[in-house]
Amino acid sequence: MTFTQEKTLAAKVRSDFPILDQEVDEKPLIYFDSAATSQKPLAVLNTLRNYYERDNANVHRGAHTLSIRATEAYEGARDKVAKFINAASRQEIVFTRNATEAINIVAYSWGLNHLKAGDEIILSVMEHHSNIVPWQIIAQKTGASIKYVGLTESEELDLEQFKSLICERTKIVAIAHVSNTLGCINPVEEIIAIAHQYGAKILIDACQSVPHMPINVQAMGCDWLVASGHKMLAPTGIGFLYGKQALLEEMPPFFGGGEMISEVYLDHFTCGELPHKFEAGTPAIGEAIALGAAVDYLTEIGLDNIHTYEEELTAYLFEKLESIPNLRIYGPKPTKDGKGRAALASFNVEGIHASDLSTLLDREGIAIRSGHHCTQPLHRLFDASGSARASLYFYNTCEEIDTFVKALKETIDFFNSVME
Ligand SMILES: Cc1ncc(COP(=O)(O)O)c(C=O)c1O
Repeated sequence: MTFTQEKTLAAKVRSDFPILDQEVDEKPLIYFDSAATSQKPLAVLNTLRNYYERDNANVHRGAHTLSIRATEAYEGARDKVAKFINAASRQEIVFTRNATEAINIVAYSWGLNHLKAGDEIILSVMEHHSNIVPWQIIAQKTGASIKYVGLTESEELDLEQFKSLICERTKIVAIAHVSNTLGCINPVEEIIAIAHQYGAKILIDACQSVPHMPINVQAMGCDWLVASGHKMLAPTGIGFLYGKQALLEEMPPFFGGGEMISEVYLDHFTCGELPHKFEAGTPAIGEAIALGAAVDYLTEIGLDNIHTYEEELTAYLFEKLESIPNLRIYGPKPTKDGKGRAALASFNVEGIHASDLSTLLDREGIAIRSGHHCTQPLHRLFDASGSARASLYFYNTCEEIDTFVKALKETIDFFNSVME
């Protein structure tokens, strides 16, 4: 393989991420946990600091300079997000705390008001808990039932099963674009088209795709799409809900309070305009503005470049991991050039607990995750309580993969020798 592109991308951006330039236990930090949360470039950190140093004020209701500046920057960030995912208008972007909150808004505001006994919700077995539990709550309240799409032999979403599950009783489909555990990229365009043929609405959980590949909601055709800022270089505490304007107009507010109203009387209130109708209370102003900076940063690098580079990392990671005996990676195999899945690998090694692996790797400065990754139903299918997961981003390198795989092999050898 060539390292040409790696040198141009990871080498180009690496100094933008000061956190990566440190030692853990006297070893250079290797951060392979970006699916949980990404690191933040200086452009984002400086934007946040600049906001609090120079512009901090509450938005929308102030006539003074700082409030006007804060409002312009906050609403400017909304424009950036709208453009980033090609929403038809800025009104279609609702700032939320994270993707979980965005899904809950749809579940409570739309689901509670549209679902009834006999209706069906379709999810998949690979969903993150945040795209399962809200629907279970709404199903309990409305009497609707949930059906789950399973996996094919190659551990991808079973599209044929989806086609057999969907029917006129299906009112909503909620599916991850990219699985945070399997790494598979689901054929969302096809799923959306099928859902719409049956008159069902469709929500895409784009937490693991928006940071890594170009997203065009209009081309995709989804009704709602959710993402978390902290996985796409922004701070925690900010995410967004995209919704088709007509749908958002029709949905009642979920949170009530300041900012989301037009008029309040002692016995009733009238709703504010979109998107403020869904943004009750003082929002995460600095965090939203910093999300705008993250979007600028990602746009400047180019999502196509990020995606292509990550394919290169994926190919290399799989080639190396597959050489380790008794190591089982969940999800589909990538092609030789790393296509067809995300740059992450969830795995188990026979006879060794995933958390023991990650604890020992941490002593080598290597940060990987172990546990159920908020996909317990999926792990149960594999008869596993959890797995280890290495998840990469465009600031990672093939040299880091080499160090990780060497340390992983040594750790496995150590455990095997102890167990002998
Ligand atoms: C696919 C997927 N959906 C939803 C979430 C939830 O994100 P958050 O906790 O930021 O709301 C995650 C986080 O790991 C995820 O990977």
